Amino acid sequence: MPLGEAMFTQRAIRRFRPDRIPVADLELIIEAAVKAPNGGNRQLTRFLVVDDPALMEKFGPIYREAWWAKRREMGETSVEDMSDLYRSATRLADEMDAVPCVVFALALDNGAASSVVPAVQNLMLAARALGIGTVPTTLHSSVMSQFRALFGVPEDVAFHLCIPMGYPRGNFGPTTRQPTSETTFHGRWGTPPPWA
Ligand SMILES: Cc1cc2nc3c(=O)[nH]c(=O)nc-3n(C[C@H](O)[C@H](O)[C@H](O)COP(=O)(O)O)c2cc1C
Repeated sequence: MPLGEAMFTQRAIRRFRPDRIPVADLELIIEAAVKAPNGGNRQLTRFLVVDDPALMEKFGPIYREAWWAKRREMGETSVEDMSDLYRSATRLADEMDAVPCVVFALALDNGAASSVVPAVQNLMLAARALGIGTVPTTLHSSVMSQFRALFGVPEDVAFHLCIPMGYPRGNFGPTTRQPTSETTFHGRWGTPPPWA
């Protein structure tokens, strides 16, 4: 798939078919991820790929707990108060135990988020090119000890993102974003770009 097609049809996928992702595709996706730029080429990003259904079953309640901890911090305690996007994210939290694969983006001590994020974007675009959906998500400090215990992640390894992956139930497609003519300036803050 041309890179442009992957970029312009990339969107958050939160509903997955149960099909496993072949190991060769997982390898390709991670190989693409590590090609991303990173500070000083120190390569401190680490990935933990989990596709064992028994582990996912244990991770599901941890993810759900994290999701609701984040919502409570925002003053939301029920699905009724939520936007469609957050309802969809709540459904993902309810279904996380059955997601076929999740990749945790981690970093060794001193690995900055600004180096992890380009790798995660490469990962998600590579997955998209293979017809595999992803969505970047976070956890919550209240579940970190459970997360570390379940997967054996040492204390000095920083958690950055949790990326559920799988073949989508539903479609990839265009996203809604503010026009670049409104979010981009040219030469000086406030001056519109030449295409505006
Ligand atoms: C830093 C970050 C954190 C996110 N956290 C969550 C999350 O916890 N749960 C979730 O379902 N989606 C999460 N998302 C996905 C966003 O909701 C999604 O990228 C955004 O709504 C745009 O979706 P679209 O590309 O389908 O338009 C997160 C995205 C980013 C970049």
